[in-house]
Amino acid sequence: MKINILGIESSCDDTSAAIVSDGVLLSNVIASQAVHASYGGVVPELASRAHQQNIIPVVDAAIKQSGISKDEISAVAFTRGPGLLGSLLVGVSFAKGFALAKNIPMIEINHLQGHVLSWFVKEKDKEHKNPDFPFLTLLVSGGHTQIIKVKGYFDMEIIGSTIDDAAGEAFDKCAKVMGLGYPGGPIIDKYAHEGDDKKFKFAKPNIKGLDFSFSGLKTSFLYTLRDEMEQNPNFIDENIKDLCASLQSTIINILIDKLKKAVKETGIRQITIGGGVAANSGLRDTLAETAKKYGWEVFIPERKYTTDNAAMIAGAGYFKFLEGKFTTMDIAPDARLKF
Ligand code: KG4
Ligand code: ZN
Repeated sequence: MKINILGIESSCDDTSAAIVSDGVLLSNVIASQAVHASYGGVVPELASRAHQQNIIPVVDAAIKQSGISKDEISAVAFTRGPGLLGSLLVGVSFAKGFALAKNIPMIEINHLQGHVLSWFVKEKDKEHKNPDFPFLTLLVSGGHTQIIKVKGYFDMEIIGSTIDDAAGEAFDKCAKVMGLGYPGGPIIDKYAHEGDDKKFKFAKPNIKGLDFSFSGLKTSFLYTLRDEMEQNPNFIDENIKDLCASLQSTIINILIDKLKKAVKETGIRQITIGGGVAANSGLRDTLAETAKKYGWEVFIPERKYTTDNAAMIAGAGYFKFLEGKFTTMDIAPDARLKF
């Protein structure tokens, strides 16, 4: 009999459900919440309400698209944290109800471990080479910026972390001051394609070890805009592409510099990336170029698996199922879950 895992992801503002069968992805449905765009950021109260509305139709669609029936599901894997508590509650409660109704086990997944394991999402009939343990993961999202040493599927060590803002936050906050929409990362990515990345210089942090910092860059960006706008009120509009290109390349340089340091310190040359910012085309290209130059082997997941999705949760759930790591009905979400 096949092992069929239903994965549920609801940690932030995407409601997602996926089915993985014997480690192969059959469906991955994501409902993104447009409601936050006009607020310039995720509004937790609205996020949990939207999850509540979306969860049943999204799970229903994932099961239908997978071609298996509800009765063939072996276990429910769900994101326990970290994330927004009200959002997590919806996914966790749904998983409990489903598991109870079908009398199947539940598997808790740490959202960040899900991102780390997103490379392992296998699609049907596609060649797929996995990195060997230990490898390094650059995890860059709206809430996290970390370098992780991955020693096993669930044996991970954070060796570098941001001391203030996450890389995605730097994208989003700078986009906001330029009057661009939310989330700002993809918009900056688009403008950056046509801009000159050497036109403006912004402060790069000088943080010891493998840790990151983005708050100085954000302030330096803000001051540049303020000073220039005093001379020319149309400065942003007239320079939007160059501003985006210069900002994006500064963020990428910060990330790649630390990654180089991590490779040097650990001697590990196999690298994966995950998290929403890993969808950035500049980062993907620079990583591929750097890998070529230094003889690294990089594993870059498709964009749909780098932003929040349930495929990575179902995939991670499959590995836990094989190890017999189940959870009990008294489980509660944990907004600050660690691993
Ligand atoms: O992993 P994710 O979907 O949610 C969190 O767990 O945070 O990441 C969302 C973040 C946002 O900050 C968004 O602006 C950023 O990922 N992002 C991007 C791109 N696509 C999404 N940042 C830069 N370039 C992109 N193409
Ligand atoms: Zn995420």
